[in-house]
Amino acid sequence: MKRKRETNSENYHGESYADQLRLASLLTCNAKKQAINEDHFFPGSHGLDAACGIGQHTILLAEKVGLGGFVDGIDTSSEHIDTACKELRDNPVRERVNFQVGDILSLPFENDTYDWIWCADTLWPGAFPDPVGAVKELMRVTKPGGVISILYWTSHMFLPGYPKLEARLNVIFNETTPYMNSVEPGMHFTRALGWLKSSGLQDVSVNHYTTSEHGPLNEEKRSSISFLIDMLYAGIHDKLDKRNKEKYLELIDPDSNEYILNLSDYFCFLNYACFNGTLPRKDK
Ligand SMILES: C[S@@+](CC[C@H](N)C(=O)[O-])C[C@H]1O[C@@H](n2cnc3c(N)ncnc32)[C@H](O)[C@@H]1O
Repeated sequence: MKRKRETNSENYHGESYADQLRLASLLTCNAKKQAINEDHFFPGSHGLDAACGIGQHTILLAEKVGLGGFVDGIDTSSEHIDTACKELRDNPVRERVNFQVGDILSLPFENDTYDWIWCADTLWPGAFPDPVGAVKELMRVTKPGGVISILYWTSHMFLPGYPKLEARLNVIFNETTPYMNSVEPGMHFTRALGWLKSSGLQDVSVNHYTTSEHGPLNEEKRSSISFLIDMLYAGIHDKLDKRNKEKYLELIDPDSNEYILNLSDYFCFLNYACFNGTLPRKDK
């Protein structure tokens, strides 16, 4: 059966947004688990998952902080928060997680509440006109000496054997995605070391995490990768020249002999960067 292939970039594969996050997570969770395994999410600590989506990371973070720890998850979407609450209901960590609707730009929490803050795949300069202001609001609710971690998807390779075609797609992606195209170099997400420092954070550092898959792919991994390819390129492949567009459509068509996810030597990877900064300690 031919897989449903939507070209509307808001409706990849016709999945709900929550299902999209779940599908993406099948591939991305390995890299995110590595980031969550860092020492600053320490046992017994109190943290905030800022823009938590459907709460997938909130639960991983609650597992990491263990009994005696607590994690709040906040997101502007009441639909995502409802989904997060439903998923939490039967989870063993439910006693140490709270989800609520709210805006990370105006947090409904007291000053100096959290030991750490995690914010994944959200605080894109360009999408947020004042990322430094947003970080300052996160800093307000973080304790002196606490750590703020901001995670970004940085790079990927999904079309092995076709580096020029994938490079063309990535150029188009960067040229046409407003939050990539309209950002001056010093405020690009890859320069977060600089703008996190300018927000007043200390000991700013970055760690890079990778995850990869190879053929033969099982059905779960195949749907996740197919979804991610669509997420990146479905809305933009029309801008390729005729020859490249035909090749691309052949490579992603499950009914084609060239379907790339059927290759026994298929290989793909994606990378995340986690930028960390520490709140200055108050003078004694
Ligand atoms: C790409 S999703 C990432 C969700 C989650 N952090 C993850 O990585 O799975 C971005 C999320 O940010 C939320 N969001 C966008 N602007 C926000 C804001 N100002 N305050 C809180 N949440 C926001 C959206 O509703 C969405 O759930």
